[in-house]
Amino acid sequence: MARKLAAGNWKMNGTGADLAEARALAERHPSPSVEVLLCPPATLIHRMAEALSGSAVMTGGQDCHAAPKGAHTGDVSAEMLAEAGASHVILGHSERRADHDESDAVVRVKVEAARRAGLVAILCVGETEAERDAGRTLDVVSTQLQGSLPTGTMAEGLVVAYEPVWAIGTGRTPTVAQIAEVHDHLRDELATAIGSGARDVPLLYGGSVKPANAAEIFAVANVDGALVGGASLKADDFSAIVAALEGAVGE
Ligand code: PGA
Repeated sequence: MARKLAAGNWKMNGTGADLAEARALAERHPSPSVEVLLCPPATLIHRMAEALSGSAVMTGGQDCHAAPKGAHTGDVSAEMLAEAGASHVILGHSERRADHDESDAVVRVKVEAARRAGLVAILCVGETEAERDAGRTLDVVSTQLQGSLPTGTMAEGLVVAYEPVWAIGTGRTPTVAQIAEVHDHLRDELATAIGSGARDVPLLYGGSVKPANAAEIFAVANVDGALVGGASLKADDFSAIVAALEGAVGE
């Protein structure tokens, strides 16, 4: 069975003052029955990891460069994230794919970099609204998944997040049936790619997850948690989502 994970993606939000939200979250969940992760902007990773040290809440990055070091102005390597205190890194988020033209091939070498540095890679896939309307959702996520997984990938160190682009930051979510269809498909595709270890890879849903819809989403088979943007910025909201995941595990 896959581990359960509630992951927060702060995107380009958060300064030192917001570390209080991370501390408040950790205080509310001193020994959670699920994994809890916050991914702040790179500038806050080290401070957040220190603020959360001794707590159950982990810290992650939102992207990394494929190389361990070198002449890449403005970039941060997986090794640097790990040294700063990150345990995870989000890769291939649709905002990176759109804003920085990241292809599956680019994402794949970043997943390799994460493994090299000992970070868990949270690999994001998801269709645009036009792709869904054209009936291409399953094809799109399959292509992204197969194209972004390095050869020899194992379950260990891998998390996959299904994030429909049209659901991110929009307040719109797929139906539970639509989520179930994609997650079942991703589990099968992972089995083809990596074998029986596929069942141990946490499959997260992401896109407008809120306290109000979290329990319904977590009740879907093959949903092992969530990647949460806006609702991860405030401890109150994210804590309610963590509690919903704990509730789903307890059932
Ligand atoms: P959202 O973002 O929860 O604000 O929709 C999710 C994500 O992009 O990971």
